[in-house]
Amino acid sequence: MQAISRDFLGYTRQMHREWGDIVFVQMYWEKVCLLGSPELVRAVMVDNAASLIRQERAIEVFSRVQGPSVMMAEGEDWQRLHRLLMPAFSPRRVAGYARLMVDAATPLLDRLVPDMPGASGLINMDELTARVTMDVICRTLFSTDLGDTARQVTKASHALNEIAMQELMVPLTLPDSWPLPGKAAKRHAMRLFDEVIDKHIADRRQMPVDQAPQEDVLALLLAARDEEGGGRLSEAELRAQCKVIFLAGFDTSAKALQWWAWLMAAHSDKAALAHEEVSRVLGARTPQAEDLPQLPYLTATIKETLRLYPPAAGLLTRRAVKEIKVGPWTIPRRSMIIVAPWVLHNDARSFPQPESFRPERFMPDAPPLPRSAWMPFGLGPRVCIGQHFAMTEMTLVAAMLLQRYELSKEPGQPEPVAQLNLTLRPAQTLFLRMRRREPAHERQV
Ligand code: HEM
Repeated sequence: MQAISRDFLGYTRQMHREWGDIVFVQMYWEKVCLLGSPELVRAVMVDNAASLIRQERAIEVFSRVQGPSVMMAEGEDWQRLHRLLMPAFSPRRVAGYARLMVDAATPLLDRLVPDMPGASGLINMDELTARVTMDVICRTLFSTDLGDTARQVTKASHALNEIAMQELMVPLTLPDSWPLPGKAAKRHAMRLFDEVIDKHIADRRQMPVDQAPQEDVLALLLAARDEEGGGRLSEAELRAQCKVIFLAGFDTSAKALQWWAWLMAAHSDKAALAHEEVSRVLGARTPQAEDLPQLPYLTATIKETLRLYPPAAGLLTRRAVKEIKVGPWTIPRRSMIIVAPWVLHNDARSFPQPESFRPERFMPDAPPLPRSAWMPFGLGPRVCIGQHFAMTEMTLVAAMLLQRYELSKEPGQPEPVAQLNLTLRPAQTLFLRMRRREPAHERQV
């Protein structure tokens, strides 16, 4: 247990290398089963989804922050919340959010360095990507941005991630009201989140109907009706869904964009190909959802980033509520099942030369990948509800960045070390140089 809590990434990789695609380990009171091949992961997460729940400790830790969210629900509660939320995340709806996304990103990207070709600055990528994705999630949820509170909310979210990661590694959490180290920071962060979410919901309720936005996520959640069982979201459920969308939606995409920026800076040949595609398709025009199918190489750079650095790595832990048979193996009831996407993503059987950054693997004309070998968004019924949202957001922001800037690392700058803090992040704050490009010409659609 200590080895796994010290270095979850290293431990799961080592177990896979030494013991193969399915590993059974007794860790104190826990029977643990680690899965490491696409076939086995599919057999468990898809074919036996009905025999799984989220691991209870994860539910305990995250529910304190989120409340009764779709991410924490199980069984019929989950099915109902999932039905109520899904329409807000359909590909058609997400395409509609694209305008809100580019509106959020434009002012932040425009003012990074002085507005003259060749001007450059060393940019804190953690701050930049957190700010952009937070504004994106806030605009798509509430049609507003966070203004001056954005920095505080980012800090609060990092604090909550760190605390949650620590709590997941121990069997119980002492009450948050106790005067213990770290509890004041946790209470402060949770209060800040509650206030932000409650304020936006209250503001919306006070708006005259004809002035309230109709197209953002909050509007859809307020209007959502369960077609099967009838009913709508209760007040507590509404807050919890806003919180989970906010928390799950901004940090994951921020970390992914940060890794993408690093890979572009470290692989100038691939960045040049992506930039060439963006200039050919868009020129200086602001990208829209309809442009995305015309940007296959850019999309491939993002998918390859998610392969090398799957951001939401810690969520894929399950409890078997029944015995599960897969091939010749039996996973006993009550086992804790761990699926580590970075193990699957680094397997040379699926991805030859897995350590190298090769977006070409994800081009439409590349040989097909083994089914489920790439799974940054999870797999089965609990797959990420925001995956179209995230891919749309990241591709739009990446295109806008490449339109404006050339990314490079500083001479001798080492490759960042990946560290799991709920999301996979660079262990040290990442700075990259951004140099403003010559303005491109307007291109007509
Ligand atoms: C690069 C970005 C993202 C990645 C890599 C990612 C990954 C994941 C993963 C691995 C899961 C867990 C799946 C499982 O337990 O089987 C998940 C669940 C979830 N994600 Fe994402 N996510 C991303 C962005 C987003 C965004 C933008 C939103 C919302 C706007 C979102 C909302 C959710 C929700 C609500 C769940 C819970 C779904 C459920 O339990 O039914 N995610 N995500």
